Amino acid sequence: MTQIVGVVGLGTMGAGIVQVCLAAGHTVIGMDGVDAARDNLAERVEKGLQRGVAKGTLTAEDCAAAMARLSTTATVDGFADADLVIEAIAEIPQVKHDLFRELAAATKPDAILATNTSAISVTGIAEASGRPESVVGLHFFNPAPVMPLVEVVHTKHADPAVYAAAIEFAEGLGKEAVPCPDTPGFIVNRILVPMLNDAVRTYAETGADPADIDRALQAGAGWPMGPLALIDLIGVDVQVHASQAIAEALGDEHCAPHPLLLQMLDEGNLGRKTGVGFHRYDAS
Ligand SMILES: NC(=O)c1ccc[n+]([C@@H]2O[C@H](COP(=O)([O-])OP(=O)(O)OC[C@H]3O[C@@H](n4cnc5c(N)ncnc54)[C@H](O)[C@@H]3O)[C@@H](O)[C@H]2O)c1
Repeated sequence: MTQIVGVVGLGTMGAGIVQVCLAAGHTVIGMDGVDAARDNLAERVEKGLQRGVAKGTLTAEDCAAAMARLSTTATVDGFADADLVIEAIAEIPQVKHDLFRELAAATKPDAILATNTSAISVTGIAEASGRPESVVGLHFFNPAPVMPLVEVVHTKHADPAVYAAAIEFAEGLGKEAVPCPDTPGFIVNRILVPMLNDAVRTYAETGADPADIDRALQAGAGWPMGPLALIDLIGVDVQVHASQAIAEALGDEHCAPHPLLLQMLDEGNLGRKTGVGFHRYDAS
């Protein structure tokens, strides 16, 4: 069933989520506090959809029809008719809490409110909204149009019908919808973030070549990409923040970022986005 979907926060994740929802046939309203993010949304989304046209997974007509279903709003009042709103704004608890309070007041009483947070408590967001039964986590992975997984996070407050509808929605996007309890890092990051830190620890303590560590995990553990190359792709800053959040939430120092990652963060060697991480990248 096609729906009216609001997406708040039109950065890396939000723009990808908009694209996925349009491709699945939904009508999408995008909102961002920054004018430029709204103004260039259509261009970014169309570029993404055109990749599907080039690959033959979408027709040119479908692409044009999808773009015709996209609009933007500068305020949450634009979500009055939305069936579902997905939040992908800054990863700051208070900012998300404030937004969910506004969303609960601006949307229909039966609208589902979803957060794409990576590490903030969905329960806390639900409670801040004042309509906790309507709130779920829909945790997409980057890049959202490519990665098949959506972790669908439930809290003790979620109405079972709301949660079932959220699973159905994620599956309707063609995604692998995996139910997750609201625990730090959900499933993937709780496992992956400490594993990536262990790869850094192995490099720092053994002096093994980063390329060899990556090749070893690819050939020996079936990883599609080595762990250090993956940190370079995710961004050293993102890995540091995710590690800190999970270590703090679990009270487990082993999950904390390795000192080498903190040093790389200080030096501005963040991986692909700066050209230098565990590997070097051509800036062009
Ligand atoms: N980047 C990733 O790999 C990734 C993966 C999964 C989940 N996430 C989560 O998704 C969320 C967004 O991450 P991102 O990487 O897309 O961030 P981003 O910085 O690329 O985009 C965030 C956008 O939100 C807008 N924004 C911030 N506060 C706002 C507000 N109060 N109202 C309206 N707009 C606001 C900003 O202007 C910006 O355009 C975060 O919670 C992050 O943890 C990120």
